[in-house]
Amino acid sequence: MAIHYREETADDQRAIHQVNTAAFGQPAEGNLVDLLRNDGLVVVSYVAISSDTVVGHILFSELPIETEQTTIPAVALAPMAVLPQFQRQGIGSELVQRGLDICRERGQQAVIVLGHPDYYPRFGFSPELAERISSPFSGEAFMALELVAGVLENVQGQVTYPPPFFSV
Ligand SMILES: CC(C)(COP(=O)(O)OP(=O)(O)OC[C@H]1O[C@@H](n2cnc3c(N)ncnc32)[C@H](O)[C@@H]1OP(=O)(O)O)[C@@H](O)C(=O)NCCC(=O)NCCS
Repeated sequence: MAIHYREETADDQRAIHQVNTAAFGQPAEGNLVDLLRNDGLVVVSYVAISSDTVVGHILFSELPIETEQTTIPAVALAPMAVLPQFQRQGIGSELVQRGLDICRERGQQAVIVLGHPDYYPRFGFSPELAERISSPFSGEAFMALELVAGVLENVQGQVTYPPPFFSV
């Protein structure tokens, strides 16, 4: 089955909400996408299309890492969803890889995710890289990835998740 990938358009917004709801079994993640979009925080919103239908989606939104010296341009990867009947065919991986490439092209230097500890390390995410970044989250599900090699080395920083993450 041919799948193609592209950035979201305004016409996709309803379908993106539906894909998130179907994948997570609840509307919270689709609502989060809508709130982040409304607040102008989206860096990349990418969809997987099969037969003109959205079957997968990934969102990257602004989440700068503040240190005492500087601000590192960074994004949160959240949420990410593939329709249940399309899962385990590589669509999620393709969305992650393509999304990371575009984030890098757009000047982002690091990515933070709160997600499955067995899934995200395959793309280079690691809890060790996120250890010195303070946030409301910690532990093995709180992971980071460098889009620019070495950018998180010895960095002591902090991220402040915007209100949409706490209002869905
Ligand atoms: C996570 C998700 C986006 C992956 O999409 P996908 O298209 O199935 O991903 P891929 O085909 O590229 O990769 C499949 C791999 O993901 C793994 N995977 C899927 N869900 C997982 C989970 N909850 N925990 C650990 N691994 C998981 C599968 O085991 C599979 O691994 P394998 O290739 O070693 O067998 C999809 O399963 C989904 O929408 N899940 C429900 C929503 C969700 O949990 N989103 C992520 C929030 S962090």
